[in-house]
Order: sequence, then C-alpha cells, then structure tokens
Amino acid sequence: MITTLRERVIGYEMQGEGMPLVLIHGYPLNRQIWQAQWEALSAHARVVAPDLRGFGESSFEERAMDIESYAEDIRELLEALDIHEPAVVCGLSMGGYVALAYLRRFPEHVAALVLANTKMGPDSIEGKAGRDRSIALAKEKGAAGIAEVMLPKMLAPQNYAAKPELVERVRAIMLTASVPGIIAALTAMRDRPDSTGTLLEFSTPTLIITGADDQLIPVSESEAMKQAARNSQLVILPDAGHLSCMEQPEAFNHALAEFIRALPY
Ligand code: MLT
Repeated sequence: MITTLRERVIGYEMQGEGMPLVLIHGYPLNRQIWQAQWEALSAHARVVAPDLRGFGESSFEERAMDIESYAEDIRELLEALDIHEPAVVCGLSMGGYVALAYLRRFPEHVAALVLANTKMGPDSIEGKAGRDRSIALAKEKGAAGIAEVMLPKMLAPQNYAAKPELVERVRAIMLTASVPGIIAALTAMRDRPDSTGTLLEFSTPTLIITGADDQLIPVSESEAMKQAARNSQLVILPDAGHLSCMEQPEAFNHALAEFIRALPY
C-alpha cells in the first residue's frame, strides 16, 4: 500500500485487527523482511509495517535525519491511519534503534517493545568510522555496492551457504534502497544516542529476540539489554543470524504471538 503525507510517499503494509503491532525494518532493507510476520501475526494483531524514509516504496526528500526523525515519521503515519492507542513496537536492528527512539519520544503510544537483533548502545569510534566508509561506498557504487559487502553478514553462515533463494530475496530487498536513504540512515545510526538510559527508565514489557549466529550484532548485546530492561524476556533463536525474522520465521512468530497474547488489551 501507498499513502501520501505532506507530499511524501510512504509505502506500508497493514493487515489484521486488534492491538496495533508496528514492525520496523533494519538497514538497508524495507518492509518486505516482515512478510512472514504480517501473514501470520495479522491473526493476532493489527500489523502495520512501514518502509522507512528512502527505503522500499517510501520517498526521500533532501533533509537531515536523525534516529528520532524516523520515529516521528512512524508516529505521523499511525496518526494518519487513525491508530491512536498504544502499540506493540517491534524493530529489527536499525529498526530497534528507531523503536527505542519512539519509546523516548512517544511513551504514551507504546504498549510493549520488541527488540530484534539490535543493541542499546551507540556506535563505537571504529563503528562511526565504518559508517563514513559506507557512506563513501554508497556514493561510489550505490545500493549494489552496499549489498555486496553486507549480504554475507546478514544471514547465519550456514543459511547463507544453504539457502540461495533466501540470499537472493534479501539481495533484491537491498537493491531497492535509494542512495539518499542509505546515506541518511548511516548518518542517523552513526550519530544515534545511547539508549541504555531509555531501557533503564521505562518498565515497558519488552521481548528481546536474536539469532544465535548473528554476525553483525552479537548475542551479548541482547543479554545486556535483558539486564537493563527490568520487564523483559530474551529468546535466542538457533540457526538464525541477523535476519532472524526471515531465517526462522515460525519460531520468531511463535515468540512474538505468545508475547502479544500475554499483554492486556
Ligand atoms: C541493520 O541491520 O539495521 C544494521 O546493520 C544495523 C547497524 O548497522 O548498526
């Protein structure tokens, strides 16, 4: 689906009834990573999966973005869709950074949080330098250059080797990213604040999910979030890497459905 808000095109998926469940994709991806989730979880919730600005079908206007701006974009879309009640806000990787920013900005609109393959801390000095190198790569070689470097790290090594169809699906998703969208996301991730205080401050029910074989964000980051978030549970999916929602969709959906079922609505 597509909508236009203040002349900005926004791609999104919306299916199901009941408790709103917002699915925020990672970088450099789009809402299609959540297909298995909206297909299954729309039986339990009203699933909304937006494309972040500059990704998938969402347009990008030249403007500086920070991680909070992506959260503001999501709030604006939910308002336009008449979703005013608190939602379960689920983000994978960069989507998790955005979900934490959303909790900071709009705590009254958050019923619960799902943090998948993500972390609460900011970029290290080396991490920031890596973002600058990726910005240069995106300018030189576009989304294809970024996809070539990132693809082998997105999946568990055994899935990368044994699931060529999945690899090609992820590549196709990455190739739809726009260069301005990639650069804005890299800049926003590089400069994002430490969200440890956010997890310590709020007692929002939180499900932390990760893949045992995540090569980009190690399991120890999820364990640290489990320690910080006092009302949280941690699920580590075997045979899954950074894209746990695509690599182990049934196990991911089971954990998410159980979590949603236990929430008051
Ligand atoms: C993502 O998957 O969203 C990114 O790899 C996260 C990051 O680079 O920090």
